[in-house]
Amino acid sequence: MIEGLYIHIPFCSYKCPYCDFMSFTSPFISHQEYLQLLLKELKLYKEESFSLKTLYLGGGTPSLIDTSLYKTFLKDLSLLVDTTRLEEFTIECNPETYREEEFKQIADLGINRVSVGVQSFTERGLKALGRKHTVKDSIDCINSAFKAGIENISVDIIYAYPNQTLKDLKEELKVLMDLPIKHLSCYLLTPYEDTLFGKLFSEEKLKLPNSDLIADMYLFWVNELKSLGFEHYEISNFALPGYECKHNISYWLGREFLGLGVSAWSYVKNVRLGNTKNISKYSQAVKRGEKPVECIELLEGYDLIKDMFFTRLRTKWGIPKEYAHLIPEELLEFFESAEDRIRLKERGMLLINEILLRINYHALPH
Ligand SMILES: C[S@@+](CC[C@H](N)C(=O)[O-])C[C@H]1O[C@@H](n2cnc3c(N)ncnc32)[C@H](O)[C@@H]1O
Ligand code: SF4
Repeated sequence: MIEGLYIHIPFCSYKCPYCDFMSFTSPFISHQEYLQLLLKELKLYKEESFSLKTLYLGGGTPSLIDTSLYKTFLKDLSLLVDTTRLEEFTIECNPETYREEEFKQIADLGINRVSVGVQSFTERGLKALGRKHTVKDSIDCINSAFKAGIENISVDIIYAYPNQTLKDLKEELKVLMDLPIKHLSCYLLTPYEDTLFGKLFSEEKLKLPNSDLIADMYLFWVNELKSLGFEHYEISNFALPGYECKHNISYWLGREFLGLGVSAWSYVKNVRLGNTKNISKYSQAVKRGEKPVECIELLEGYDLIKDMFFTRLRTKWGIPKEYAHLIPEELLEFFESAEDRIRLKERGMLLINEILLRINYHALPH
């Protein structure tokens, strides 16, 4: 049963130097035409059963699309799949796009959660990350959403950008603690290969903080946000009680979800499906009445267990104790028991990539 629907909106007004999400700034396709294709794509899954609890408009920059277009789109979508029992409906927005009036309009559409791509609450940080908005834009955006009645507000922060110090993090914290934020995603800056930062990093022209400083920064977020009442429930995610992101929890706990749009991923009946990242291929396939899927992976046997380790160990829920024997003994010091489960300690979360590699190569058959 599919409980989550992800919709990828690939439009951006500029491309950030660190971002490898599929998005483009040229008008290859109109917003309206793209929304029509999404509906057509959804019709290709009519054999699936849905009981939608979460809907997520992610990107790219979903807040670039006019709210009147979303109104028609959501009306048409509700004719294809039942959206009356949604518990969480999120839109990602860039800080410079929406203000109170637009937030009121999207709240009228049933959207009850906003994820704002703040990235940094310091002008230095925004400059280092090549962002085109100001700290004031972010503050105004968050306050406007709250005033418009959307109280479930999440903020994305990127840390460990070039020359960032712990003092900068304290400044971030000082600004955010006065804002009506219920959820925070604090991402470690990753210089992905196909991005400008990735290229500069591989040419040693981009200097990032060393691993000791990164560890201190990570622990800064964990400890400071804890003292503000946020629970650390996934490696990069923190929430006030009851405000964990239900949609993303379905990914981590291995529930079924459907992703629509260029580059979107789905997980249905133990099969992982990846849509093409090419917008013309996407459009042509959907117009021909074919699923725009380019990658199909059936998960069974040890692959399912491996997948569970890779996703659930990122969370406070961890893995059922019955799988603990697959963890090499020398790694057990990084784990703790939680009822009938075993999970990583904070110290273990810091080393998650190394730990998963060791488990994969030494304990799980290939
Ligand atoms: C799909 S992006 C959309 C956010 C929105 N368009 C914005 O930029 O405000 C989701 C989030 O991924 C994070 N992100 C993107 N690239 C990243 C990278 N290379 N390293 C760490 N976090 C990254 C950013 O925090 C971003 O807000
Ligand atoms: S970070 Fe956001 S605005 Fe920047 S390119 Fe990625 S999706 Fe677009």
